[in-house]
Amino acid sequence: MNNAIWHTHRVNKSDRARQNGQRPFALWLTGLSGSGKSTLAGAIEDILYEQGCRCYLLDGDNVRHGLNRDLGFGDADRVENIRRIGEVSKLMLDAGLIVIAAFISPFRADRDMVRAMLEPTEFIELHLDVPLHVCEQRDPKGIYKKARAGEIRNFTGISSPYEAPLHPEISMNSATLTVEEEAMQVIGYLVERGYIKPLRDIPA
Ligand code: ADX
Repeated sequence: MNNAIWHTHRVNKSDRARQNGQRPFALWLTGLSGSGKSTLAGAIEDILYEQGCRCYLLDGDNVRHGLNRDLGFGDADRVENIRRIGEVSKLMLDAGLIVIAAFISPFRADRDMVRAMLEPTEFIELHLDVPLHVCEQRDPKGIYKKARAGEIRNFTGISSPYEAPLHPEISMNSATLTVEEEAMQVIGYLVERGYIKPLRDIPA
């Protein structure tokens, strides 16, 4: 592998971004299981798609069915999970796409690793700061119950740590907002900072 030499092709990242008419970035959602990452990521994707953005949603449960089906939930596997997703995100940005990533991504160092893989303003960290007891009460997959019963090992928030971001670009608590309100807050952030154009009305 180390004998591989990087080949620079003629069509480059900015050509592809220009062709897509957008500025690629990775919106990275982190938070406990049940914090609403997938739901919010889906709502944001819907809006961006309607606006004509070319985006791709990478979601924990889905990626673990394919690319990362060989990985479990021990510390080393979680690191590798995020490393691979970081590399995939980087490729997608290189392809001129906008990436929305929704992973627990419990370790600060791993999220920072992904940030470091990308260009300085390309990584937008969004913390869904929902208290454990709220996530556990929701328990949409019945998974906290199993973790408490000892049927699932290394469960984030219970038997495996979650390291909250120290300086996320965006932080929100979905225990107090509707998913539409959250999505519009994120869209507002993206418009304000020039990641996307102001929303235009889409004819019904
Ligand atoms: S991460 O920690 O490696 O970033 P990821 O987001 O890919 O996690 O996957 C989390 C999903 O896997 C959860 O939503 C949950 O449905 C499922 N899961 C299964 N076992 C565990 C576990 N031990 N800890 C956390 N989530 C688990």
